[in-house]
Amino acid sequence: MEHWHHHPIELKAIGADDMQRAWDIAAQAFSHGERSDYTADSFKTPFDAYGVYDEDGLQAQVGVNRYKVFMGAGPIMEMAGVGGVSCLPAKRGRGYIGRCLVHALEQMQDTGQHISMLFPFSQAFYRKYGWEAGGLRRFYEVPSKVLQVVKETSEVRAATAEDNAAIISCYAAYAARYRGMIQRTDQEWKGILDDGKKHFTYTYLYAPHEAVEGYITYRKGSWEKTYIREFISLNSTAQRALLGLLHRLDMQVEKFSWHAPCDDTMWWNIGHNDIQTTVEPACMVRVVDVPAALRLWRTAPGLRAGACVEVLDPHAPWNQGVWEVECEAGVVTVKRGHETPQLTLDIQAFSQAFCGAATLMAIRTARGMDVRDEAGFTALNEILSGPPMWMNDGF
Ligand SMILES: CC(C)(COP(=O)(O)OP(=O)(O)OC[C@H]1O[C@@H](n2cnc3c(N)ncnc32)[C@H](O)[C@@H]1OP(=O)(O)O)[C@@H](O)C(=O)NCCC(=O)NCCS
Repeated sequence: MEHWHHHPIELKAIGADDMQRAWDIAAQAFSHGERSDYTADSFKTPFDAYGVYDEDGLQAQVGVNRYKVFMGAGPIMEMAGVGGVSCLPAKRGRGYIGRCLVHALEQMQDTGQHISMLFPFSQAFYRKYGWEAGGLRRFYEVPSKVLQVVKETSEVRAATAEDNAAIISCYAAYAARYRGMIQRTDQEWKGILDDGKKHFTYTYLYAPHEAVEGYITYRKGSWEKTYIREFISLNSTAQRALLGLLHRLDMQVEKFSWHAPCDDTMWWNIGHNDIQTTVEPACMVRVVDVPAALRLWRTAPGLRAGACVEVLDPHAPWNQGVWEVECEAGVVTVKRGHETPQLTLDIQAFSQAFCGAATLMAIRTARGMDVRDEAGFTALNEILSGPPMWMNDGF
């Protein structure tokens, strides 16, 4: 690899002139050369694209979607959703993508993106650059026959465009219980709730009082399997009511499937041997800017704690080094530390704990941790504790 290290390449944002070429590179990488008819308007999420240019022009690219995510009940954080990572086959293995990822990371830092997420083809590949496994999600496959109509099902109704705002509020209330759910733009919501070009979208909600307490939405599907784009319920009653609606579709759909967070409590409502639950790795996570992300984080209001932490992050030197982290009344303060650190974490471990993929305690048990002073470990473990990671969008 060293041989290629000084290969003259230029790393820069991909301009409008090169976008078609960028999409063509992605077509070869992701869709067996299927030609796209993308235009700049095809994308519902604002994004940046960074390219690797050599003597043959654009050869490789990293896309960064500009998302905002809920981090528990605290403030929204800017999240860099990495996608479209691709290199032309003849130029692979020269370090083009590695260098482009580091470049993208620097741009994320410059543009104030606090954290980053991505769906990896290989965890090992992205781990090298500081991303780490973001926990698990569930995939349910549920035969409609085994579900039951309950009395609350009679209060489930078909949603109209007028309900969109109340559905979005239900989503936001749910999102505050997790770390990582995307605060979708109007365009993204339209993509989910509006009818498609070729198919209707069906959305049902449960709102016995004024507020929407749960909803399901899906488009397309088949008798064998229909995927529900989103099934969200704020409480068990709402979930039970909506499961009943799915039962009413049992002559059209044999099996429904959907994704759910790992702490979902459907088993409180129905446990049946024909329901299949698969546990899958979710996305990978990375903190882009350790002090900025910590300052936005909200701890439990009653917690008063402080830790002197060393972070190892060779690809992001702005994170590297010792930090004094303190919290009081929910607010975290961070400044450069000059004492001997109480514990040392690599950015992968810090990212997992910060994003709720695993607790600091669980990470220490699994992988070991360089702890010099238990008080610092206990404090950081408490500061970073909070809701689990969950996200229901793909990019
Ligand atoms: C994956 C891909 C982007 C890598 O591009 P590349 O320019 O060849 O990657 P690099 O040369 O920068 O490799 C960087 C490092 O990753 C390693 N790596 C490369 N391909 C890898 C693979 N398939 N699995 C694991 N590690 C890999 C390299 O060995 C190198 O490590 P090193 O620096 O320790 O030697 C490219 O193979 C591709 O376009 N694949 C098809 C599309 C795809 O799957 N993209 C990923 C979407 S998440």
